[in-house]
Amino acid sequence: MIRRVDFPKDFIFGTATASYQIEGAAKEDGRGPSIWDVFSHTLGKTLNGDTGDIACDHYHRFKEDIGLMKEIRLDAYRFSIAWPRVMPDGKNVNQKGVDFYNRLVDKLLENDITPFITLYHWDLPYALYEKGGWLNPDIAMYFRAYATFMFNELGDRVKHWITLNEPWCSSFLGYFTGDHAPGHQNIQEAIIAAHNLLRAHGYAVQAFREDIKDGKIGLTNVVIKVEPGDSKPESFLTAALFDKFVNAWYHDPVVFGKYPEEAVKAYTERGLEIPDSDMDVIATPIDFFGVNYYTRTLVVYDPNSPLGFSYTQGNLPKTEMGWEIYPQGLFDMLVYLKERYRLPLYITENGMAGPDKVENGKVHDNYRIDYLEKHFEKVLDALNAGVNVKGYFIWSLMDNFEWAYGYSKRFGIIYIDYNTQKRILKDSALWLKEFLKS
Ligand code: FCB
Repeated sequence: MIRRVDFPKDFIFGTATASYQIEGAAKEDGRGPSIWDVFSHTLGKTLNGDTGDIACDHYHRFKEDIGLMKEIRLDAYRFSIAWPRVMPDGKNVNQKGVDFYNRLVDKLLENDITPFITLYHWDLPYALYEKGGWLNPDIAMYFRAYATFMFNELGDRVKHWITLNEPWCSSFLGYFTGDHAPGHQNIQEAIIAAHNLLRAHGYAVQAFREDIKDGKIGLTNVVIKVEPGDSKPESFLTAALFDKFVNAWYHDPVVFGKYPEEAVKAYTERGLEIPDSDMDVIATPIDFFGVNYYTRTLVVYDPNSPLGFSYTQGNLPKTEMGWEIYPQGLFDMLVYLKERYRLPLYITENGMAGPDKVENGKVHDNYRIDYLEKHFEKVLDALNAGVNVKGYFIWSLMDNFEWAYGYSKRFGIIYIDYNTQKRILKDSALWLKEFLKS
């Protein structure tokens, strides 16, 4: 059985959340609307029309939530700042919003829980969307100003920072598939949005280097293990190319200052333009990559689809998201990232949505314990293979607003009863508590 002592002494175990998914208090204390408020309030965009208006009411219950983290003995907590809470119009400061994050950070530190802050986990101030959002090149400067403000405000106590969460989702789901806010469907826009996200990241890292001397900063990407869905040679090539679209596109520029050539070629052959401004800024050295790992993706060659591929279904057991459970992919991708980029890594998200039910006040989520254990084992294997993984954050601390799926998917190790806002530690949380003692 895997035990905590098997991991390095300074290895960090934490949980992760994101502002729009848990905070609620959408209109309180001067918070402005974000693109997700507008999107979730638009008919047909989220399952059952769910919104983050109330969510887990964490804005009012953060002390209780930190108490639960303490009870589980977590070392660290990754959360995000809602830009429109601290700057309702994207530019001018709302002190009451800033006060909330000061209280949160202080309470964490009082409980010996190390804060990891994500500056952007998808809730762009709507006022900036009205100015062009991620398609407007000026967004990078607005982001830099916002980041600088937060560094100065919290940098005395917070030493670990993540600029963006999964720019692939913000650009491709937001601007190409339209499944996420702002819901556009234009691939050229997605490529531009991705570029401006990376520019924003780079400018924020520059500001960080000027202002904070004793902190670490990185970028979190979704990392997908891409495999061919059949044994045709074209599908192997397609899988290799898809890997460049989804993984390398968001890592390579940050380390090498350029987009992966194979993917650039595939896009330009389809008449798309690839921006190349500020590549040196994008490549400002960072301290680590955050890795959000959930599953693998199977792709096959499909000449009739716009980008030359389509997805197929695998036959491994699946979570409630329909995502295959594939711990080996975590090991493979950690090794891949080490080899390609040579940077320290944090697993900033990993976890599963389960068919959780309350029975006599308990939630018996054995499947989640099994999922976590198997992924912990792969992290250990990676450490033993020489990968510099420094920590692991479970997605998520508690059930929350799962974007387009609303409240229908439960990822937490803590169960939320949305009618009463009662929190229940699932069996996985109780298991984790024992593991962290071991
Ligand atoms: C990731 C997101 C996170 C959560 C999980 C399930 O892509 O970063 O907010 O929705 O997926």
